[in-house]
Amino acid sequence: MKIAVLNGSPKGELSVTMQYVKCLQVMFKDVEFRIMDAAAKINKLEQDEKYFSALIEEIASSDGVIWGFPLYYLLVPSQYKRFIELVYINNSARAAFQGKPAAVFTTSINFYDHTAHNYLNAVCDDLGMRYIASYSARMHDLLRSKERKRLKKFGEIFLQAIREKWPALINNQPLVMPEIIYSPASLNRVATLGKKVLIIADDLSVNGNLRAMAETLQKTFTPPAEVVQLRDIGIKGGCLGCLQCGMDNNCVYEGKDGFIDFFRQKVLGADILFFAGTIYDRYLSSLWKAFFDRSFFLGHIPVLQGKQIGFVIAGPLKQIANLRQIMEAYTESQRANLVGFVSDDGGSSAEIDAGLQHLALFAADFALQDYIKPPTFLRMGGFKIFRDEIWSGLRMVFQADHRYYKKHGFYDFPQNQYKLQLVNMIVTPLTKIPFLRREFVKRIKKEMLKPFKSALEKVK
Ligand SMILES: Cc1cc2nc3c(=O)[nH]c(=O)nc-3n(C[C@H](O)[C@H](O)[C@H](O)COP(=O)(O)O)c2cc1C
Repeated sequence: MKIAVLNGSPKGELSVTMQYVKCLQVMFKDVEFRIMDAAAKINKLEQDEKYFSALIEEIASSDGVIWGFPLYYLLVPSQYKRFIELVYINNSARAAFQGKPAAVFTTSINFYDHTAHNYLNAVCDDLGMRYIASYSARMHDLLRSKERKRLKKFGEIFLQAIREKWPALINNQPLVMPEIIYSPASLNRVATLGKKVLIIADDLSVNGNLRAMAETLQKTFTPPAEVVQLRDIGIKGGCLGCLQCGMDNNCVYEGKDGFIDFFRQKVLGADILFFAGTIYDRYLSSLWKAFFDRSFFLGHIPVLQGKQIGFVIAGPLKQIANLRQIMEAYTESQRANLVGFVSDDGGSSAEIDAGLQHLALFAADFALQDYIKPPTFLRMGGFKIFRDEIWSGLRMVFQADHRYYKKHGFYDFPQNQYKLQLVNMIVTPLTKIPFLRREFVKRIKKEMLKPFKSALEKVK
């Protein structure tokens, strides 16, 4: 049996993820796991037709496919995203994937691994693959024998499903593309009163609705918002995963392309940001993905803190809840404020106008009042992962993050709350005594409200 493994790590054979595949190679000696670098070799795959066809041949002659990749910004690395785009637009490539049993395998620190898995599950469904299983390994799982056993079980399940032709699950409906041609009306002007508004688009020439939406939004602000297209800033490539930035936020691309200056000056200098893009497959373009990945040079620091962020999207956004969640989670993790989404999916021109007017009014108002909505699980859950990782396993590599986290009080471990610990230490054993327990349970609701009473008094 032959399994084609599409390596999504920009690090090629130095990939952590591929160490798991190597482990599978040892565990299942009678199976050939053919590893192919779909991300590290993206330039060659894009430019050399023969090289791309040879890879697709390997897919066609395989019994199953493993999409193996590291999590990058809640999804796949931009290079892998580009590979997926190349497959979508190439009919013979699509035909090679059609009907193949598929598994999704990632390594990560479990920060939004589920959104990446959802994405690739949907890609498999779009390509007509038989999606069998998905596996999210924590980066260092392989070092533990219990986890190696679990990995083996995963391998067995996948191989058995292929041999016995188990039916697949289809979790995603085909997307229906918006048919509307947006024709904008003129909107009420919104004064920015000194707040800087930046609309970032990947490439406005690709989609007429996107261009019209971005231009309408731009003109709604007084003075008009600045528009920058990512295709014009000279991004030379995606994040390489080299981690050199971890020490002091210096990227290997520094001085070699336009991204870092653009990010530092334009993005960090704006008060209100609109991200405008067209949906490709189940996400935005790989160019947009490169924008997010390349911002990794600033580590796990919420550098967009306090900014207002809105999204203007051409394509079937309302059918891809996962993409919305990715953008919501990105915004919240940055401690920025999500103003909202406007898309051309399923609405009339008047509805799009109303959406854009809403974005402009709310963004300006929120910016002037420094309003940030309270965080949800998306930020709170993710932040606790970062806090724990930077404190422990990742500290040596991400020293700049550690300095920042320390300085800004990010290490808010419950272990540091000594008063609470003392109360827990004294009260918890007392609740084991039956009559005290009865009293405790009787009073619990009222006691819980006590601190609120004094807060309400203060409001009065
Ligand atoms: C640019 C970049 C973005 C990342 N984003 C995420 C993420 O969103 N979630 C996560 O859990 N880990 C994230 N990671 C961590 C990697 O997924 C993890 O280190 C992975 O094991 C690397 O695998 P590889 O060596 O095969 O490339 C990110 C790493 C990099 C370099």
